[in-house]
Parts: sequence; C-alpha cells; structure tokens
Amino acid sequence: MIELEKIEKIYNAGKASETHALKDINLRIEEGDMVAITGPSGSGKSTLLHIIAGIDSPSSGEYRFCGKLVSDMSDKERCRIRNQKIGMIMQDFGLLGNDTVLRNVCLPEVIGGRYNRKFENKAKEILSAVGLPGLEQKKTNQLSGGQRQRVAIARALAMDAKIIIADEPTGALDSENTDSLMDLLLELNRQGITIIIVSHDPKVAMRCPIRYRIEDGRIERTKIY
Ligand SMILES: Nc1ncnc2c1ncn2[C@@H]1O[C@H](COP(=O)(O)OP(=O)(O)O)[C@@H](O)[C@H]1O
Ligand SMILES: [Mg+2]
Repeated sequence: MIELEKIEKIYNAGKASETHALKDINLRIEEGDMVAITGPSGSGKSTLLHIIAGIDSPSSGEYRFCGKLVSDMSDKERCRIRNQKIGMIMQDFGLLGNDTVLRNVCLPEVIGGRYNRKFENKAKEILSAVGLPGLEQKKTNQLSGGQRQRVAIARALAMDAKIIIADEPTGALDSENTDSLMDLLLELNRQGITIIIVSHDPKVAMRCPIRYRIEDGRIERTKIY
C-alpha cells in the first residue's frame, strides 16, 4: 500500500541552514498493518509522516501509493488521496475550537460541498462508536484532550479513511487516556484500517505489532524494547 524507496529529504538545500532530515528511507507498509514509528525529537518522524500523507514531497527517492508513483500523480489526484483515503491526526488535534463536534467531524464534507442530512446521521453514529455519544453540539474547545483526539479520529472515519496517520496522538494525554485511545486505534485496526502512529512513548509503540525507530534521519525496524 505504501512503499518508500531510497527517500531523502533535505530542507534548505545549499543554505547554511541545510538539514538532512531523512536519509535512505526504505519502508513498506501493507494494508491492515499497525505500525509505530518512534525516535527522539528532531529525528525526522513528522517529516516522514508528511511525505507519506502527501503533504510534503521528498528531495529524492520513490514513493508509491497503492502501486502508483506519487511524483507522477497530478495535484488533483494527490489531493484526492489525501482527502479521501488518509485521515491525519495531530498532537494539536487540527480541530476548529469554536465549532461544534458535529461540524468538525463533517468538515471535509462541508468543504467539499457534499454535506447533507444523511451524512450528519452517519457522523452521529461514528461519534457514538468512538465513545462520544451526545456531544455533537458541544464546542471542541470545551472538550478534554482525549475527547478531542476522538473527534479527530471520528472525522477520519466519517470520510471512510483507509489509513489513519497519527503524529504524537497521545502527546498531550495522561496514561489512562493514552491507554483508551490506543484501545480505540487497535479496534479500528482490527476492522481493517491501516494505522501509522508516530510517538516517542514506548508504551504506545509496545502495543503496535510493527515498530520502527528513526534516529538522525535513518530508519530501522525494531523488535524488542
Ligand atoms: N519546514 C522545515 N524547514 C526546515 N527544517 C525543518 C522543517 N521541518 C523540519 N525541519 C528539520 O528537520 C529535522 C526533522 O524534523 P521533524 O521531522 O519535525 O522531527 P520530529 O518530528 O522527529 O521531531 C529537524 O532538524 C527539524 O529542525
Ligand atoms: Mg514531530
């Protein structure tokens, strides 16, 4: 599903501030995998996620998504993959704080002009499924960190994302909320959703069957902690 070959990322190439963020990354992620990527701050984790999600492009190397070279895709095609197949969940949630839970979940549909009553009902069902029943009309800035992460997950599910990419999703959560968020992600993975989690929390990584570690831009598969 995701194949990275000899991926390099250099920021500010040729300038004094040049940073070699990713070095010779070779990585395959299959449909239905649940993958953790750990590593210290500044090691390249977010850069890798942004490339996988199509938000940023590599300096060199090949990235294939479902067998197709991403560099050969049109902007429109790349956008469609990003909006319809990949749900991004960020540490700072990526939600509109002053909007309701329901509106945040439906946001991709609202933006895409596809919003309707039927979709609203689907969104409500998903909110129950992720453990947020009855909170549709609450503003997201009135929710706890754990609840906000669930809203972000609900949004990904509402757009039928096949992949959930989470960048430090438990970074702002206590250990109890971290455990229950991981329970939810594991359950979604059992239902067939591919999950990629970046975290520097070994407890999060330990619950993922496949683990990688990035250090100074280089990735390595790890087995034991
Ligand atoms: N947009 C950017 N411009 C320049 N340098 C960047 C940019 N984003 C990240 N970097 C640098 O690339 C390296 C990897 O960063 P990042 O992928 O954010 O690491 P992590 O997520 O593991 O903390 C760091 O040295 C960081 O300063
Ligand atoms: Mg990061």
